[in-house]
Order: sequence, then C-alpha cells, then structure tokens
Amino acid sequence: MEPGQVEIHVRPDGSYKVYGPVVVRDVDGNPYDLGEETKADQLGTRIKLCRCGASATMPFCDESHVASGFVSSPRAP
Ligand code: FES
Repeated sequence: MEPGQVEIHVRPDGSYKVYGPVVVRDVDGNPYDLGEETKADQLGTRIKLCRCGASATMPFCDESHVASGFVSSPRAP
C-alpha cells in the first residue's frame, strides 16, 4: 500500500477490512472514536466494517457474521 492510501479488503464471508487513514461518520455526520476498533495486522492498521448486517456494534464488525452464517465472497472481474 502507498503511504496515505486507503485500501478496502472484502473478507470471505465476513467484514470489510479498511486500511489507511479514514474517518467513519454516523448518519448525523458525527465521527466515531476508532480507538477500540483499530487493530494491527500484517498489512497495517485497520478497522473492520460490517458487511453482513448482523453486527450489534454497527457499522463495525463484531464477528456476528460467523454465527449468522453469512456467505458472500465477491471477486473482482
Ligand atoms: S461482517 Fe462481521 S458482524 Fe457483520
């Protein structure tokens, strides 16, 4: 990834992993505190946004996709 670039990775049957400097705003335009949501992995720091609709901590992924049996693994053409 280029410095400052935002990258979104679609996870198999799971969340969107968002790498890079982002601000997530609620429906009123207020920013979320991403401190607890930001984690590091081999690609850098990231947050995970829910893609399945089952999270109790929307818009963030809380791993509910596992219990809900969410299935979606789209691939770029
Ligand atoms: S994608 Fe993880 S809870 Fe929805």
